[in-house]
Amino acid sequence: MKGLDLLGPEMTEQPHPYWAQLRREQPVCWDGSQTAWLITRYEDVRTGLTEPQLFSSNRIAPLLEKLAPARRAKLEPILSIMRDWMVVTDPPAHTRLRTLANAAFRGQRIAAMKNWIAELVDGLLDEFVRSGNTDFMAGVAYPLPATVIARMLGAPQEDRDRFQRWSDELALVAFGAGGEAREERHERALRGVTELQEYLRELIATLRKSPGDDMISFLLGQQERLDDDELLSLCTLILFAGHETTTNLLCNSLVCLTQHPDQLEELRADPSLVPNAVEEVLRYEGPIKILVRWVTEDVELHGQRIRSGDRVYLVLQSANRDERVFDDPETFDIRRPTQPVHLGFGRGPHTCLGAQLARLEVRIALPRILERLPGLRLAGDVTWKSSVATRVVEGLQVDYDSRREPAPAR
Ligand code: HEM
Repeated sequence: MKGLDLLGPEMTEQPHPYWAQLRREQPVCWDGSQTAWLITRYEDVRTGLTEPQLFSSNRIAPLLEKLAPARRAKLEPILSIMRDWMVVTDPPAHTRLRTLANAAFRGQRIAAMKNWIAELVDGLLDEFVRSGNTDFMAGVAYPLPATVIARMLGAPQEDRDRFQRWSDELALVAFGAGGEAREERHERALRGVTELQEYLRELIATLRKSPGDDMISFLLGQQERLDDDELLSLCTLILFAGHETTTNLLCNSLVCLTQHPDQLEELRADPSLVPNAVEEVLRYEGPIKILVRWVTEDVELHGQRIRSGDRVYLVLQSANRDERVFDDPETFDIRRPTQPVHLGFGRGPHTCLGAQLARLEVRIALPRILERLPGLRLAGDVTWKSSVATRVVEGLQVDYDSRREPAPAR
């Protein structure tokens, strides 16, 4: 079977026919250009996510070991910062970090943030409409999660633009950017992370002196503590993991709905369908496309021998459209039952820690967007970004019925 370049235009624009063919003919397939096995069926992806002793998340150290010296020297500074992230550790180290982080999330009483998030969304939409801006991604989908994370971490909300920039730069490496950004992605990410870490160090010092009701203050006040480096690492991960993904879920929701106008109208007429619609976007165009694991012992799967030390790509984008699991999987249907559950937030020990928050943000934002932007439609074609791990649009220009031209500058 002809292999396709995961970063090439075909796999960026229309990946689904290829995934369907792999699921049918070669559910475990070696991709030489990525040096990874592509695992595409739902059951196998789920196994990969739920058996950390066989499919390890500890992926930065083995990657560094495999690199030629010159490349290693280039990548080591940024990768060694990411090496401590909870998401790239295995139990038992992961279990300890996860337990502490879970408690901090619970301490934030996410559900109680509902009114504040609703006001934030209304404010962003007011400004979006008033300014005549048409770039939904920049005007609404970017600042919303950045502001939420700034508040959660106890940072001043005016700093959200800086949060956005840092998380963008980190995403270039963590999500494997393609296109023009690929060449210089490590330098840019390192610059961003260095600035971010300086900022967080100061923030932690401030909150240690005068704690608030934020996550950092909560973690500083616990008896079982993260040390300063671990705290820094968790905050960096949360900023990065919670920002672009949520931006993309909002944008992908608008893409799916505007491409299915009958369902958009149905949703506008019956907002009780919103939670279901959000789950369907996570299944149909979920922001995370691929999760990476390293195999710890030889294993045979669908006739292929995967060797200890090999890398596997668990293709959520394919698993979520597996015809063995979902009826009529290529159809976008906001009324689809939420069982079986999609894998858009992962599964197993690393299941997304921010899933409740991400769902809350998008469930609050969607009906408000549809109400404030009547006749919502895309202004132009959708261009997907070339990226190994994420499903993300290049930008999202929208139009709607009552859009006024911006007031002339005085
Ligand atoms: C729609 C938005 C989001 C999507 C699609 C998403 C997706 C995911 C996925 C697939 C994983 C599993 C990674 C793995 O198994 O290797 C994950 C982990 C994680 N997510 Fe999310 N995420 C979203 C939003 C958020 C938010 C808002 C936060 C925090 C504010 C967050 C924090 C995390 C953290 C800390 C982990 C690592 C958990 C661990 O290693 O135990 N995510 N996310």
